[in-house]
Amino acid sequence: MKSKIRFLSSLENLTKADPAEKIFVVDKKVFALYEKKLSCIWKYRPIFLFEAKEKNKSLSYLEMIFHFFLENEVKRETIIFAIGGGITLDIAALASSIFKRGCRLILMPTTFLGMIDAAVGGKTAVNFQNYKNLIGSFYPAEKIYINLDFLETLSSREKLQGWAECVKIALIENGELLQTISASQKITESIIKKAIELKLSFCEQDLFDSSERRKLNLGHTFGHVLETLSAFNLSHGEAVSLGMRAAAKLSYEENLISKIKYDQINNILNKFDFPKKMKSKISNWKEKALRILYQDKKFEEKNVVILFQKENVTIRKISPEKLVTTLSSIVDQRNDLL
Ligand SMILES: NC(=O)c1ccc[n+]([C@@H]2O[C@H](COP(=O)([O-])OP(=O)(O)OC[C@H]3O[C@@H](n4cnc5c(N)ncnc54)[C@H](O)[C@@H]3O)[C@@H](O)[C@H]2O)c1
Repeated sequence: MKSKIRFLSSLENLTKADPAEKIFVVDKKVFALYEKKLSCIWKYRPIFLFEAKEKNKSLSYLEMIFHFFLENEVKRETIIFAIGGGITLDIAALASSIFKRGCRLILMPTTFLGMIDAAVGGKTAVNFQNYKNLIGSFYPAEKIYINLDFLETLSSREKLQGWAECVKIALIENGELLQTISASQKITESIIKKAIELKLSFCEQDLFDSSERRKLNLGHTFGHVLETLSAFNLSHGEAVSLGMRAAAKLSYEENLISKIKYDQINNILNKFDFPKKMKSKISNWKEKALRILYQDKKFEEKNVVILFQKENVTIRKISPEKLVTTLSSIVDQRNDLL
């Protein structure tokens, strides 16, 4: 199923357009910030207020949401209306996909990342034990409502999460979006539209993440290692941005791209507030990095990684040892940093 995406200039009259019975799962912080602005929606209570933390994106919170659905007599025709960033959307969408074998679902992302990535493409998930997004489903929302006003209260660090994905998709396409974001680093409706369109073009070719969609993992295999090595002091977006630098380095060393292209990739990353290196206090980081790679669910099956190639990207088989060697250019392990 294809999600209908609507950009809203105002949140008023939102519910009039769709009179079906609704139940809300809402990021607690967003509720506090936008209670007045969203009053047109709140009158359609009940609302499950969800504290958006990775540790709450869990089976126990999923169960709480199910209790809430039961208490409020949610039926298959009820719309589960989720409002928040990726964490909230992921858990609410998973709940919607399996409660009574699937209810109706509308998503309203409130972060830049949510708008261009988490709401789009139909993936839902919760974390399990130490694994991110281990339990989930594919369940595209029937509608996605986007209102840019939410971005006014988003911190620069949170915006950077979205920029990492936006730069990634722009680099994969190597076209109009890359030109636009190279010229201006301001989030606009047209940037969001284009990023969504590009992401959807991959998802439509490959909803279940088995071939073309893997290209969206650019920077993610390296990024996952760095994020874990840093004990999550690096945000996901920062780690992915460093992962793209590593992918560019390896692509250049493998003669897949020219030095000019290599510099171009780094230049675009430099336009944003992304780090250039990861400082590490761990002396045996290479051994740890290898262990992390062996446990990476996206890397483990086929040892493939996404690299740059001339105008585009390519899926390559590369040994874990080689990947770790490449990371030496990113991991800064000087003693004066300790
Ligand atoms: N399903 C997918 O395809 C997909 C894709 C990418 C990421 N994700 C998931 O998304 C999650 C990350 O999501 P995220 O970065 O969008 O945000 P988030 O849900 O992690 O929220 C980050 C913080 O911003 C706050 N917040 C949300 N909207 C706000 C607003 N408008 N103003 C002020 N604060 C606001 C939240 O309360 C939270 O404190 C991860 O769990 C990741 O796994 C899923």
